[in-house]
Amino acid sequence: MCGIVGYVGPERAEPILVEGLSRLEYRGYDSAGIATLDGTKSYVRRAAGKLAQLRARLQAEPCPGSVGIGHTRWATHGRPSEGNAHPHTSNGVTVVHNGIIENHRELRDELRRDGRLFTSETDTEIFAHLIAVARAQGADLLQAIRAATSCVRGAYALAVIDEATPGAIGFAKLASPLVVGLGEGESFLASDVPAVLSHTRRFIFLEDGDVGVVRAEGAQLFDGKTGRSVERAHRTITWSAVMAEKGGHKHFMHKEIHEQPRAITDTLRGRILLDDGKVALDGIDEAQLKGVERVLITACGTSWHAALVGKYLVEKLAHVSCDVELASELRYREPVVTAGTLVVAISQSGETADTLAALKECRRLGACVLCICNVVDAAIPRACEGSVGTLYTRAGPEIGVASTKAFTTQLVALHLLAIGLGQARGALTTTTARSEMEALARLPLEMERCLAHEADTVKLAQQHMGARDMLYLGRGHTFPIALEGALKLKEISYIHAEGYAAGEMKHGPIALIDEHMPVIVLALRGPGYEKVLSNLEEVRARGGRVIAVGTEDDAELSQHAEAVLRIPAAHPHTTPALAVIPLQLFAYHVADLRGTDVDQPRNLAKSVTVE
Ligand code: AGP
Repeated sequence: MCGIVGYVGPERAEPILVEGLSRLEYRGYDSAGIATLDGTKSYVRRAAGKLAQLRARLQAEPCPGSVGIGHTRWATHGRPSEGNAHPHTSNGVTVVHNGIIENHRELRDELRRDGRLFTSETDTEIFAHLIAVARAQGADLLQAIRAATSCVRGAYALAVIDEATPGAIGFAKLASPLVVGLGEGESFLASDVPAVLSHTRRFIFLEDGDVGVVRAEGAQLFDGKTGRSVERAHRTITWSAVMAEKGGHKHFMHKEIHEQPRAITDTLRGRILLDDGKVALDGIDEAQLKGVERVLITACGTSWHAALVGKYLVEKLAHVSCDVELASELRYREPVVTAGTLVVAISQSGETADTLAALKECRRLGACVLCICNVVDAAIPRACEGSVGTLYTRAGPEIGVASTKAFTTQLVALHLLAIGLGQARGALTTTTARSEMEALARLPLEMERCLAHEADTVKLAQQHMGARDMLYLGRGHTFPIALEGALKLKEISYIHAEGYAAGEMKHGPIALIDEHMPVIVLALRGPGYEKVLSNLEEVRARGGRVIAVGTEDDAELSQHAEAVLRIPAAHPHTTPALAVIPLQLFAYHVADLRGTDVDQPRNLAKSVTVE
C-alpha cells in the first residue's frame, strides 16, 4: 500500500510533495521519491529508506518546478531499493503508482521485444513505457493513459507527468484509492486525504475507471473505457488530521478490520487462474512442491493460529502430513526434518525473532523452506531465498498491534498454497481446485456481509464489557478461530479469555462454567455442527451464558443461545476467515468501551524482534 501525492499550482512543488509524503509516514514504507516538471524538463529524486534520506538527497540536488508527483513505497514487486523506488521514467514520461499489475510479466516481455529497456524490477515501470509508447505514436497524455490502462489487468492509482504536457498531471484509478484536492488556483492528487489536508478540505473521491488530468485551475474527469466526460461530487472533509490518517475510523484496528475485503482481493490478485483450473504462486518455486513428503508450519501468536487452519487445508487438499509448531518451541528442540520436509514460516512482520530462528534451524538441518509474509524483503523472506521462496500476503501496512487483516490474508495465502501443493503432488483434481478457487473468489463479498452485521457486535460488547473471563469454543477448522478470538479479546481489552477445542470441554474447563463466564461458541453449519451443538448444550445445562457464531440461514440456532452473531453460509474452507470477523469486532468494541489503548495495548509491540 503505497502513498501518492501530486501538486500543480503557483508554488514550488518540491516542499509541498515532501510535506505530503511526511503526512503518510505513519503507514510505514521502504523508500520514497518525487518528480517535478519545470516547464518541459522533468527532475526525479529517489531514495531507499526513510524520508530523511530523500530530504538529504533533495538538499544536495533540489527539484525546480511547480508541478510534481511523489510516492512512498511499500514493496510488492521487487525488493526495497533506490532502483525500485518510484517515480519511474520512460522518454519524458514519469509515473508513480499504487496497486498491483497482474499481467506485468507478459507486458514486460512484449515491451522488451520492442526494444524498451527496463531499469527496475517493479510492475509500475510498465506504465511509464506503455504511456511513452502511446505518446510517441501521437496520443495526447489522456489518450496515452487510456491506452495504457486498457492493456493492464490489476489495480492501480496512477499519477503521471509528461515533459510534453507542461502544467498538468494525468491520473487513472482502479481498485486503489485516489482523490483530487481542489485549492484556490492550485490542485492536488493523493492516495490518502491526510497527505494534502493542510492545503485543502475540498475533495473529489475518484471512482474505479476514472481517468483525467489535473491543472492548477481544476480537474477534468473521464470514463477510462468510453472517453466520455464524467462529473463527480465535490466533498468537504471535516475530519481532523488524526482522524484522516485513520480514514475516518476511530482506531487503526477498526480501519484494518474493515479493509479485509480489499486486502483479500489483493492477496488473490493474479493468483487464481479459473480458466486453467490452477493457482499461480508468484515468488514460489512451484517445481519444488512436487517432492514434498511432509509439511511443518511454524509461527507465533496470531500467525500460529493461521498455521493451525493451514494444517486442515494442507492435509485435506494436498493429502500430505502437516504438523504445526510454535516457533519458540521448535527452535530449541532438534526437529527431525529431511529434504522432503517443507517448512513454512508465517509472519506478518517477517522479523519475529523466534520464527526466523526456527526457520533457519530447519534450513540448516536440510529442510526446504518457504514463508508467508506481509513485508517484502524482511528477514524471514530473505532467509527463504534460494529455497522455495516467499508467498506475500499483500495486506498492506498493518499498524494496529492486534493483527486482523494480516491474519485473514494469511489464511487465504495458506489456502492458495494448499491448492498448489495438492496440484503439484497430483492429489487434487482440477474440478476440486476450481471449486476451492471459486470459494476464495467469493470471500471478499462474503466478508462485506460479515462487516454489515457490526451493530450486533456493538450491542453484545455493551452487555459483556464488564466480564472478567470469557471462553471461546470451536471445533475442527474453527478451533483455531476460537483461539484467535480469545487472543484478540485479551490483548486489547485485558479481559482474561481462553480458546478451547469444544470437545475438550468435558475434560476440565467445564468446571469453570457459571453465569459469570460468557462462552462464545463457533456453531457453524457444516462438518462437526451437531457435535458443537451438543457441546453448547453442555454449557447451557451448567447455567453458562452462550453467544453463538452461526450462519445467516440457521434460524434454529437462536433457540440454543442467548445471542447469535451471524456470518454468511460459505464453503467450509473459507469459513474460518469469515468467522473471525465478528470476533475481531466484538474484541474491538469491548476494548473501545473499556477505554483501553486499542492500537497500542500495554506491554505489546508490533514486531517481536527479541526472544
Ligand atoms: C497478534 O494480534 C499479535 N500482534 C501477535 O500475536 C503476532 O501475531 C505475533 O507476534 C507474530 O507476529 P508476526 O506475524 O509478525 O510474526
